Amino acid sequence: MPTLAEFLTRADALARDGAALIHAATSRDAVDAARVTLLGRKQGQLTALMATLTELPADDRRSAGAAVNAAKHALETTLSDVEASLGPDVDASRPADLTMPGRATWRGAIHPVSAVIDEIAGIFRELGFTIALGPEAETEWYNFGALNFPPDHPAMEAHDTLYLGDDTLLRTHTSPVQVRTLQTYTPPVRILCPGNVYRRDFFDATHAPSFMQIEGLCIDEGVSFVDLKATLSEFARRFYSGSSKVRLRPSFFPFVEPGAEMDVEVDLNDGKGKRWVEILGCGMVHPDVLDAAGIDSEKYTGWAFGMGPARIAMSRHKLPDIRLLYDSDVRFLEQFAR
Ligand code: DAH
Repeated sequence: MPTLAEFLTRADALARDGAALIHAATSRDAVDAARVTLLGRKQGQLTALMATLTELPADDRRSAGAAVNAAKHALETTLSDVEASLGPDVDASRPADLTMPGRATWRGAIHPVSAVIDEIAGIFRELGFTIALGPEAETEWYNFGALNFPPDHPAMEAHDTLYLGDDTLLRTHTSPVQVRTLQTYTPPVRILCPGNVYRRDFFDATHAPSFMQIEGLCIDEGVSFVDLKATLSEFARRFYSGSSKVRLRPSFFPFVEPGAEMDVEVDLNDGKGKRWVEILGCGMVHPDVLDAAGIDSEKYTGWAFGMGPARIAMSRHKLPDIRLLYDSDVRFLEQFAR
């Protein structure tokens, strides 16, 4: 029967010699071998020492057990440290497996809606427009009041608008940027304003509660409806194809007079031939809007438009459901990698 002193001396020696053995290992195989020698379930040296615990006098077992457990713990830590320091195992005797699939590099892609916005911004830049931005959290006055919405207009009711409290809301369109820009810059002004807008809508195939719009505004002396039609037709000619026809239909928006919607005749390559697709709302800026922004409406006139690039991306790529553009599903989005 060993004495407690003998047991503790052996535990101590095993911890010391075991650590030296592990540190001597220069490969993962050698670390594994040291693990088996020291802690192996059948032949392990420390395992064998532990088995002799029961041979000690009952009073000594507690302190002996603590000592051998501490030694075991120290060896386990050393094993994993040394193993980690060795890095991956490379076996020079085994040739590389050239049939293994490679690790593909991720190729990012521009989102189809961003691509449409970039392209539209490029065309309008060539036509003399610069980019202007405004806040997504707006006041009622910028979003509605300054844009000539009467106080009881249905669009102002809570079912359309997401209110943030008090007088603040999430803008329902990019049109308030018209007012903010005209308060800051004196005409001539030609701006294009892309940005997120928010409406209290559920997601369905044709609606999203948050979506992008692009606003355009042109204010100068002597600007007429002819300029509106010429510029927007030229845009459609460049964005679609030279042969695309456009048409304007009268429509109502409180901040323009007269107001219109523009359709483009496009072939979606679905065998159904050409058809009219609505792409934007537009009109001559209402004098009350110019006055609200502090612009002399006797001296200046101008026109504005607003369009939805997601709708344009949908018609361009023949997408049946707007939600595809918001799902962040890489299998869908990677088709647009160029
Ligand atoms: N703000 C309108 C909307 O969200 C779109 C619009 C229509 C913008 C006519 C304009 C415009 O600038 O002239 O439905």
